[in-house]
Amino acid sequence: MKRKEIAAFTLAVCAWVAAPAWAADDAAMLKLAVSSGCMTCHHVDPGAKGPDGLPPIGPAWRDVAGRYRGKTGAIDQLTRTVMTGSNPYASHWKGRVSGLAMPPNEVAISEAEARALVGWILALRPT
Ligand code: HEC
Repeated sequence: MKRKEIAAFTLAVCAWVAAPAWAADDAAMLKLAVSSGCMTCHHVDPGAKGPDGLPPIGPAWRDVAGRYRGKTGAIDQLTRTVMTGSNPYASHWKGRVSGLAMPPNEVAISEAEARALVGWILALRPT
């Protein structure tokens, strides 16, 4: 094989290996969510209960995707909410979650990471 062919072959193998990139992305994003403390209040899938059988503390992320996906500015807006917290007097999920508001997460996550996480959340398939 010539050098060029080897390069092309290597690229093809890499592309093939990277094909299930979605699963790898899922794992990386979940790891980030766990290490940033998000999963103490959130679940990915709806239906899970919070402590004492109450509704979950925060909304399931598939529900978040269903509500905001495709809306202009959703990534910016939600990234800001994740960083600075939500307004307890204007809850977006009142009656559906047991948490009144989300505290600011800027102590736990960088803005770039929060943005990546929100992008991933919005791309989840709503159930
Ligand atoms: C202490 C509990 C708690 C933690 C930790 C937490 N959240 Fe939340 N989150 C909430 C609650 C409660 C709401 C619902 C707020 C509302 O009703 O407006 C919420 C709402 C959200 C929303 C939707 C906001 C909206 O305006 O509809 C997103 C997106 C979100 N959280 C992502 C995250 C991410 C990412 C993390 C981790 C960096 C995180 N949350 C950590 C409790 C939490």
